[in-house]
Amino acid sequence: MAGFLKKWFRFAPDRKGKEAELDPGKMPRHVAIIMDGNGRWARSRGLPRAAGHRAGVEALRDIVRACVDWGIPILTVYAFSTENWKRPQEEVKGLMNLLVEYMRRELPELKQEGVQVRAIGRLEALPPEARRELERAWRETAGNRRLILNLALNYGGRAELVDACREISHKVLAGELRPEDINDDVLKKALYTGDLPDPDLLIRPSGEMRLSNFLLWQLAYTELWFTDIYWPDFRRENLRQALLDYQQRERRFGGLKI
Ligand code: FPP
Repeated sequence: MAGFLKKWFRFAPDRKGKEAELDPGKMPRHVAIIMDGNGRWARSRGLPRAAGHRAGVEALRDIVRACVDWGIPILTVYAFSTENWKRPQEEVKGLMNLLVEYMRRELPELKQEGVQVRAIGRLEALPPEARRELERAWRETAGNRRLILNLALNYGGRAELVDACREISHKVLAGELRPEDINDDVLKKALYTGDLPDPDLLIRPSGEMRLSNFLLWQLAYTELWFTDIYWPDFRRENLRQALLDYQQRERRFGGLKI
């Protein structure tokens, strides 16, 4: 057989095999990601931390596109936690500027791709410019249906539960709800993610194995996936690996295998 044909026959099954691997019928409805490791990525290259965050935005762009291409309907990413205010002022400012820049630069493409932008967290504490850009993106993409990109900003899982308790208490005080009627469903609906299904898959890069106050209620039965690579290096091939592993998992939600 001619050399080039041999090469093709070796290559073809691989390619076919690879394409057939992801099962479109077993895609998660909701993927959550803790975008961790930007600082270490930068340090390992002798760069300032800000360069790591900037590179992290590129990873996010790639993963948003992959979710659109592969029909994953919801992506929630942890971009800034309630604890991140403790970082040096310059880094916090840099992150907020990056958010503004991301919104301005990406909005046309996000619109074109059918992405609906939302945010969760105590958004009222974000700088006015960041809030403005976020609200604009939210408003202008509200009708999009291919992917919900949910940005967790000034987000904390405990703060979210506190806010939910406050909302429920107000309803009880107003006589709209009886304490004995408070159940899982009432609490779920009072969360920032009230109208979204819980994540099926949580991805945390950078070798850390903790939840760091992310979606504490929502992750109760979520499949967890960790990798050592830093977020700025994370690309669709890594997401693909996470999805392949996820598709092998047997989810029982506390029940038995049927
Ligand atoms: C954690 O890495 C990452 C963050 C606190 C920020 C995440 C933000 C981005 C990926 C970019 C901004 C996002 C948008 C939507 C504009 P770290 O800095 O804690 O890394 P380290 O643990 O290695 O120090």
